Amino acid sequence: MVKYASLVLALFAAPLALAAEEGANAAAAGAEKSAPVDWESWHAGNDVTDIASLQRGARNFMNYCVGCHSLKYVRYQRVADDLKIPASVLSAELVAPGSNALDYITTAMPAHDAENWFGTVPPDLSLIARSRGVNYIYRYLKTFYTDTSRPTLSNNLAFPTTAMPAVVSDLEGVKQAVFRDVKSGSGADATTEQVFDHFETTVPGNMSAEQFDGFVRDTVNFLDYAGEPVQVERRSYGLWVVLYLLMLTAFAWLLKKEYWKEVH
Ligand code: HEC
Repeated sequence: MVKYASLVLALFAAPLALAAEEGANAAAAGAEKSAPVDWESWHAGNDVTDIASLQRGARNFMNYCVGCHSLKYVRYQRVADDLKIPASVLSAELVAPGSNALDYITTAMPAHDAENWFGTVPPDLSLIARSRGVNYIYRYLKTFYTDTSRPTLSNNLAFPTTAMPAVVSDLEGVKQAVFRDVKSGSGADATTEQVFDHFETTVPGNMSAEQFDGFVRDTVNFLDYAGEPVQVERRSYGLWVVLYLLMLTAFAWLLKKEYWKEVH
């Protein structure tokens, strides 16, 4: 177990430590100026009726999140049915080894190991989109940055001092957060506060900025779906209900005309 734990740490730590050094060099060389990034107003902009996006999100979740997080209220088969994923793809790419299609989506990470490694157990994500909101998760996944003072060597703007490592940095690249000093008060009361300004990529990832944005949006979309799987179905019923009501109105109107045609 100890061996495995240090492997996990080394995996995440090595690129980050490298990045920190490079970032420091870049900063020393006088990096370019840009407008402050208003990350708090970012929106997920996901669409739970977009089945292709949900399918990609499910794949992202199985590749990047299920190692630590479960979706304990969702069964694989349900996901396959709702997202029109063929049985062959389901068993080959989604269902974890040792599980079958009718099982709930659990993580292989034992809770007490997680507690040892991260100091906390990664939460089940079944209801996270409902408790925290999709925009929060979107901002969370996009605001990891290098911080060598943290045990994970990374930190996060949406959730400062989070115990979750920057697990998507191979896709997004490794970012350095640049803060600026904002002074308030004057004289003896003057205080200086560090306010986030912008990110600087110190190690490029495998994806372009647009591709990574799509990756995050799809993943958030899938978590939105997982929080209320029936919403996809419910929305498609909605259309039929509206059509039905329109037809009923048309018939009622014709009937009314028929009844009243003799009355003058
Ligand atoms: C290496 C393990 C690991 C992986 C992989 C991982 N996480 Fe986490 N995650 C954690 C831990 C640990 C926490 C708890 C953070 C805390 O409470 O400080 C967490 C917390 C979270 C939270 C809750 C944040 C909050 O405000 O409570 C969300 C959302 C989340 N992770 C999403 C994801 C998604 C989406 C993925 C896949 C792209 C992912 N995680 C992959 C370890 C992981």
